[in-house]
Amino acid sequence: MARHLITSAIPYINGIKHLGNLVGSQLPADLFARFQRARGNEVLFLCSTDEHGTPAELAAAKADKPVDEYCAEMHAVQARIAEGFRLSFDHFGRSSSPQNHKLTQHFAGALDAAGLIREVSEKQMYSNADGRFLPDRYIEGTCPNCGFESARGDQCDNCTKQLDPTDLINPYSTISGSTDLEERETKHLFLCQSQMREKLQAWIDSKTDWPLLTTSIANKWLNDGDGLQDRGITRDLDWGVPVMKGDDVWPGMEGKVFYVWFDAPIEYIACSQEWVDAGKGTGWERWWRTDKGADDVRYTQFMGKDNVPFHTLSFPATILGSGEPWKMVDHLKSFNYLNYDGGQFSTSRGRGVFMDQALELLPADYWRWWLLSHAPESSDSEFTWENFQVSVNKDLADVLGNFVSRVTKFCRSKFSETVPEGGSWDAPEQALIDELTTRVGAYETYMETMEVRKSAQELRAIWAAGNEYLQTVAPWTTFKTDPDQAAAQIRLALNLIRFYAVLSAPFIPDACASLMDSMQTSDTSWPEDIQKSLETLPVGHAFTVPEVTFRKITDDECAEWQERFSGVRT
Ligand code: MF3
Ligand code: ZN
Repeated sequence: MARHLITSAIPYINGIKHLGNLVGSQLPADLFARFQRARGNEVLFLCSTDEHGTPAELAAAKADKPVDEYCAEMHAVQARIAEGFRLSFDHFGRSSSPQNHKLTQHFAGALDAAGLIREVSEKQMYSNADGRFLPDRYIEGTCPNCGFESARGDQCDNCTKQLDPTDLINPYSTISGSTDLEERETKHLFLCQSQMREKLQAWIDSKTDWPLLTTSIANKWLNDGDGLQDRGITRDLDWGVPVMKGDDVWPGMEGKVFYVWFDAPIEYIACSQEWVDAGKGTGWERWWRTDKGADDVRYTQFMGKDNVPFHTLSFPATILGSGEPWKMVDHLKSFNYLNYDGGQFSTSRGRGVFMDQALELLPADYWRWWLLSHAPESSDSEFTWENFQVSVNKDLADVLGNFVSRVTKFCRSKFSETVPEGGSWDAPEQALIDELTTRVGAYETYMETMEVRKSAQELRAIWAAGNEYLQTVAPWTTFKTDPDQAAAQIRLALNLIRFYAVLSAPFIPDACASLMDSMQTSDTSWPEDIQKSLETLPVGHAFTVPEVTFRKITDDECAEWQERFSGVRT
């Protein structure tokens, strides 16, 4: 049994995420976690909310709530929506947890002991109108790298370059809009990343099986000259992890907190402690400490491309620099962006379909299927309502749903609601088993290597093979001359329903669970041997004809939704 540690980039607390966020990290991570569990492997799948820093403070201010209260509420909201999408986290934690406070402070201490922290007195943007320093997102301006006009102080959304607020051209305060800014002296802790450049390069170079999207971004920042500068890991903010050394305030760091991008990835580890403390499991160290059993763990991270620099450089610098035996990521799966109907999804501008809205329109499986089968892997991809309608109606309703309904209804009308007896399998059945053997092998390989779109394509072909088989053997015709043979054909087809439910559950878990209910079985064993697997439901086994497995999206609905979501969310 293999052991898989799986993390999804932790979503910012500031509001409900859109479908582009979902497909870039949480959803493919869930697909992989479900697949590994289905194969009988041991899985720890973790996600949390990213609660510190300026995004949280700004959103709380906008909602007119104390930031801790705002975060607690939004965590509950995001947790409920994640459940709605059937994201099967073993724990959905919070980066503001006491566990993460302690662990973040621990890492800073270890880095300091290793000589990798230095104190820097630097000039920072101070807003006279607001009476405070303006770190990160409290400031916006023009990106010095690409000219994008609303680049944030910490990173440019357009070119993904990591920035310092003082880099911005024509900066202004996002609190008051004021341009009355001046540079003032303030002291901060810096992580000496530059000293770790060679170590990090060697580590990246050893990852020969990583997607090009991942390694090219990492190498770009490593070799860019300014890619691996020492970075400030503290901020002049109230909300966050206080900068402590042991039980005392770090001398000179009174009133400061760690930078959100320092504590957020540490939450991956802290989340496993929260999981234990919540009584959901034991032994977090056997997942995270190579000296305590994590040596045989395979650790996979999922994220959008804008997160790659932080996961290939900053966080590894924290871990490697600590000198402690922490488990490092083995495979990093990153995604391009999903666009929305001719433009970008945008949280700040409220453009696109958000997770809560999606669930109000249709059950999770419809979205999961479309999003995963169109995951932005090799390039950006685009959501359009037409495309969504076609995919759902063809793949889910016509191919899978229709197969289920034809088979179960035919059996009920000509035999009974039990697996019928008689006849035996012949050449067409053998041909189907051979095809499925090849296709399931390919499906497993794609799922194992996280080729999400190819996995979906192969699964669709596996469904289609069932329909083609039905067309070829035509049990409704066979029945007239040779009812025994028709029984053998339907026996296979009924077993295919269970077989599909098992294989497809990582993509469309709810539909598969109800198919398993209809087939009145709880045998979810993975088809290691295709023929055997198609003999799971024996002669005489009772089933019920399911309600509609997938319904079609009508043209009217499609037009109405397109119109409804054409503006901005208010
Ligand atoms: N909150 C960040 C985002 O949504 C991701 C943080 S991932 C972590 O882009 F690893 F740093 F936690
Ligand atoms: Zn830029």
